[in-house]
Amino acid sequence: MKGLTIIGSGSAVPDQLLSNRDLSAIVDTSDEWIESRTGMKERYVSLSQETLAQLAAKASIKAISMAGLTPEDIDLIVLATSTPDDLFGSACQVQRRIGAKRAVAFDLTAACSGFVFALVTASQFVRQGVYHNVLIIGADILSRWVNWEDRTTCVLFGDGAGAVVCQSSETEDNFLGFELCSDGTLNSSLNLTYVSEPLNLMENISVGSGGYQSINMKGKEVYRFAVEKVPEVIEKALHRSNLTVKDIDWLILHQANQRIIDSVAVRLGLNKDKVISNIAKYGNTSAGSIPIALDEAVGQSLIKPGDVIAISGFGAGLTWGAAIFRWGINYG
Ligand code: COA
Repeated sequence: MKGLTIIGSGSAVPDQLLSNRDLSAIVDTSDEWIESRTGMKERYVSLSQETLAQLAAKASIKAISMAGLTPEDIDLIVLATSTPDDLFGSACQVQRRIGAKRAVAFDLTAACSGFVFALVTASQFVRQGVYHNVLIIGADILSRWVNWEDRTTCVLFGDGAGAVVCQSSETEDNFLGFELCSDGTLNSSLNLTYVSEPLNLMENISVGSGGYQSINMKGKEVYRFAVEKVPEVIEKALHRSNLTVKDIDWLILHQANQRIIDSVAVRLGLNKDKVISNIAKYGNTSAGSIPIALDEAVGQSLIKPGDVIAISGFGAGLTWGAAIFRWGINYG
């Protein structure tokens, strides 16, 4: 079995800023309500002509460059997204845009847990010695899928992408453990469903022809689920890593609500100066949120080589998971 180390990170958000004050001109809300309930102050949204593949490619190029590699060194691309430009997948468009000619590329859908699920999926290929350099991207443009007349959801989301590059090693292993969970019985708490209308092809044969609706969320249910399940899954991932909460240098949670982040830290007994949060600036960027926060903390030199990082995502499905890794790069 081979070892695995993250050797580069990158992130990208669209240029267009949307503040809480801007939102109060769109729906009946206020800066005060949004900030006090969620911790969000602003977020970025993609314009209609901007694509998910563009955003994901920008983040990827930065991650590959930090890793000291070229796109042609990449063997595998896993794109975690729920908002592809193409329902058949957008990973190959990212592959084309960055010029990763040798890479096999595919999409993975696990909503806001997507980055954690993609990192764990990619790690299996690396451990087995199948692929050496792997690009893992979390990217979403949820502004395409919120109902801009529904104040209970449209204020929560922003667009963005983050990426990391992992490399296999014969001698060093910095991917310490993980735990992934799913519960389809809770699907109706948060979903974005396809609604089918019958289309008659001929007598007795009618196929479905419809479209996706906008995000549907029962906020309180999701809140309760997150504060209960996220500490549990982090504890399990730590156990698998032969570590305890005391060993965590940095906790990076999916950035969905500052109150959820605070509550998880309290339940874990983790000091808040070990918790990374950038929700005020970006809102909930779904699969993008963890790698954007990671990349930002790396850029600010908060994360040092040898630091133990716990990441945890949760969201639609419902899905949730955590992964523990040691930061291996000396970028200073
Ligand atoms: N602006 C102003 N008022 C709003 C509002 C908005 N944007 N959205 C809802 N309200 C109102 C409600 O209508 C309600 O009014 P009422 O008391 O007159 O009925 C009141 O604010 C309280 O709403 P409630 O839903 O109880 O608020 P809350 O404290 O549960 O916060 C969320 C709502 C969505 C912020 C919170 O439940 C949450 O963050 N849940 C988790 C969501 C999440 O993380 N989703 C993504 C997971 S990946």
